[in-house]
Amino acid sequence: MEKNIAVIRGDGIGPEIVDEALKVLDKIGELYGHKFVCTDVDMGGCSIDKWGSPLTEEMLKKCVESDSVLLGAVGGDKWNHLPVDKRPEKGLLNLRAGMGVYSNNRPAKIWSQLADASPLKKSIVDKGIDFIIVRELIGGIYFGEHSTADDGNIKFSEDIMRYNENEIERIGRIGFETARKRRKQLCSVEKSNVLDCSRLWKNVMHRLAGEYPDVKLTDMLVDNCAMQIVKNPAQFDVIVTENMFGDILSDEASMITGSIGMIPSSSLGNTQCGLYEPIHGSAPDIAGKDIANPIGTILSAAMMLRYSFDMEKEADCIENAVDGVLDGGYRTSDIMPDGGEGLKQVGCSEMGSLITKYLKRND
Ligand code: IPM
Ligand code: MG
Repeated sequence: MEKNIAVIRGDGIGPEIVDEALKVLDKIGELYGHKFVCTDVDMGGCSIDKWGSPLTEEMLKKCVESDSVLLGAVGGDKWNHLPVDKRPEKGLLNLRAGMGVYSNNRPAKIWSQLADASPLKKSIVDKGIDFIIVRELIGGIYFGEHSTADDGNIKFSEDIMRYNENEIERIGRIGFETARKRRKQLCSVEKSNVLDCSRLWKNVMHRLAGEYPDVKLTDMLVDNCAMQIVKNPAQFDVIVTENMFGDILSDEASMITGSIGMIPSSSLGNTQCGLYEPIHGSAPDIAGKDIANPIGTILSAAMMLRYSFDMEKEADCIENAVDGVLDGGYRTSDIMPDGGEGLKQVGCSEMGSLITKYLKRND
């Protein structure tokens, strides 16, 4: 099969981690006879420096016309002084909106080899951590109007959160469908004791529940959810929530699995063309030092194969290789426990090479 991939290296550690994912994809192509044709796309701070905008129309077009997009990370101190709509992150938001990828899937699953890296007590981790956050990605407060003004007396700011029923329904359906393929428990997370958007959210979820009688729907307030994720993560199967709550809860969920560096994500809309990115940021403090963890990006590439290219076996092959490398005792610094007896610390590029070496066709 031949597939066109738009590749966004971005800023900070983005280029390093994406290079490792491309190493892995190259080898998959070799093993399974596929051709992955990569087109470089500028986005984020590097695009601001080069083109004066975090994402140009031309670059967005390349992404929309590709078979899928693989992204590292964007942002950094250098561009922090810019107004919100000129910042590197705005490129990412415009990309998500421009591709129409409203459904962001962020798995929180603990790898057994990394149980020691979780900050939670062993008794909690041992009950199992395996859930998915389905985050609405192109609506809500991220995409409402933002403004700051001064009435002569005092400065004030406003960020509008708005959702319509259709936006809620389409992500709600993804939540139910995702739960249906798993343990059939869907937890809808909102703040209906305060927000109108959340009350609408809850109503729509309950209306949809009638169409999915096999799925058990529960509601949870977002503050309680933040608490439950550390208290008893085993209770969750699929969480469905709006954009900003999903942003916050997915960082929390990733941490309890050991490291945010391990978590991939997929973002899909109504077509096969998806956006695949690790959920961590550009980590400028460790950029260029060859110490970043490329696994979140490598697993994002695996998700791309599975969800956009229907390459199940190839995706399994990557996940098995990651498992093998972790079994082999190799760790980047973020997943290296204190002491770490018998484990070997490796850098970003060595981790990518090891995973590539462990790729084996098993069919
Ligand atoms: C994420 C990130 C982004 C978000 C930032 C970089 C805009 O935190 O993907 O979780 O808030 O969506
Ligand atoms: Mg985030």
